[in-house]
Amino acid sequence: MSESTEVLVLGSGVAGLFFALRAAEHRKVTILTKSMRAESNSRYAQGGIAAVWSEDDDYEHHIRDTLVAGAGLCRREAVEQTVRRAPARVQDLIRYGTQFTRREEHPDQYDLHREGGHSHRRILHADDLTGAEMVRALIAACEANPNIRILDHHTAIDLVTEKWLARRNNEIPPERDRVIGAYALDQKSGEVRAIGAKVVVLATGGAGKVYLYTTNPDIATGDGMAMAWRAGARVANMEFVQFHPTCLYHPQEKSFLISEALRGEGGKLVLPSGARFMDSYDARAELAPRDVVARAIDNEIKRRGLSCVYLDMRHLSAKELETKFPNIYGHLRSLDIDMATQPIPVVPAAHYFCGGVQTDLQGETSILNLFAVGETACTGLHGANRLASNSLLEAIVFADQAAHSVHERFGNVASDPSLPDWDHGSAVDSDELVVINQTWEEIRRFMWNYVGIVRTHRRLKRAQRRVELVQDEIRKYYWDFRITADLIELRNLAMVAEMVVTCALQRRESRGLHYTLDFPESDPRFIHDTVISRPDQ
Ligand code: FAD
Ligand code: SIN
Repeated sequence: MSESTEVLVLGSGVAGLFFALRAAEHRKVTILTKSMRAESNSRYAQGGIAAVWSEDDDYEHHIRDTLVAGAGLCRREAVEQTVRRAPARVQDLIRYGTQFTRREEHPDQYDLHREGGHSHRRILHADDLTGAEMVRALIAACEANPNIRILDHHTAIDLVTEKWLARRNNEIPPERDRVIGAYALDQKSGEVRAIGAKVVVLATGGAGKVYLYTTNPDIATGDGMAMAWRAGARVANMEFVQFHPTCLYHPQEKSFLISEALRGEGGKLVLPSGARFMDSYDARAELAPRDVVARAIDNEIKRRGLSCVYLDMRHLSAKELETKFPNIYGHLRSLDIDMATQPIPVVPAAHYFCGGVQTDLQGETSILNLFAVGETACTGLHGANRLASNSLLEAIVFADQAAHSVHERFGNVASDPSLPDWDHGSAVDSDELVVINQTWEEIRRFMWNYVGIVRTHRRLKRAQRRVELVQDEIRKYYWDFRITADLIELRNLAMVAEMVVTCALQRRESRGLHYTLDFPESDPRFIHDTVISRPDQ
């Protein structure tokens, strides 16, 4: 049975929650989220959110820092919009209940951190658990709002559009496609719900899990990017995957981030001998942009045959470390690492997708009434490389833009769309779950080895052959067996892998986060986005 809602939001990270709160000022909003509502990349954000906040900083500095990191590919209007609206949106977060850390000596002022690539201190934070604090406040505000309902453990499978429906009914498809809802798996009942909506918002986050080593939690499987691509929306810049330089290297702990804010407080990267190396790569040393630092660490690890390098924080006392970074300090202590007396073992890991579903300045995609906000979107803010702490900011600024746009257009959206029921066909329950695990592992490993921090054309081609094979197997499996949450994620992960490889092969130069040994220099002929969409659209 088809059901409907006015606005359907997929995902409950900062982008989805913030959008819901703004849209619910006028409309009824349903949020679907595939895990518990608090689980998301947002929840693990440590460093903070960037905004011009102090007297000695100004918009031009933040704009310039963002453009420099973006290596020629930022969309100027997106950067201007984001930076200039940042303080007002951060005020909104505060109004919704987020408590940012204040200065000890001046409790009337917020404490500002500095991170790589930022010329000024402008990172507001809640200790080193900024994301968790933002998510806490936003969920509480959503739960108190009668216009918002959140359905946990619902995995969106695919979007439904007018073109898809017309083809299914053997009718002539419309010229410009429009979204009319989505199918979602209710994980508890195992049923697929068909949910019609006048507006659908993809807020499904990033895709770090496509790599073997990542700072991202399990939810980050690129579902929104894959759903949008299958629906025929334009996707851009998937080659620009940001690797965070400092993920903890520890056998029991695969994804624990050691925040860039530690380098902002004077942390030094060192070899096992204790020798520093960053100043031989970049004059900004440890505070160079992430791509430079991640590549330098990768190079040192590979050429010296190391397992990791170290971040040395011993210039700060235990008390200072515990006060400034209580989460990191405590977590390391629980693993028997005392950062006041020992350097922290670190390695780079996949962290953030600069590419995603291409949007305009209001967050709308190339499909009418389909919006994308947060990490799943490619708004033009980050270009070829994201400046630290600009993504939580992008999430709230574009969520707000999208909510305004949704409000303005509501007068002329279609009446309640009705969706056909999900067709299970002849699919049966699978008794071969090992296939899913095996394929998942395979994708993550070849992506790490062939499409990682340093690429070559040959390695990309190898990855392309493997991804084709895997896609073929998944297609067969998908139609033969009843859908499960794991299968949905695997199918999306494979799609994301294909998109990253396709975009990376098209960019025959090095720029920002895409570095290939075959074309080590930037080439002015490639100062444009890498835009892809389904060939049959
Ligand atoms: P997410 O927060 O990832 O939320 C996505 C939501 O979508 C989740 O609720 C998920 O369950 C849901 N979802 C996914 N697929 C489906 C589906 N098929 N159906 C239904 N629901 C679905 N950025 C900063 O600016 N500052 C920082 O300090 C910072 N630190 C970070 C630290 C870590 C460890 C990580 C991993 C990232 C960090 N980032 C930081 C990046 C930033 O956290 C993310 O880019 C941002 O939070 C993304 O928000 P989002 O709402 O777009 O996605
Ligand atoms: C960090 O705390 O280092 C992460 C900041 C970010 O990803 O923007």
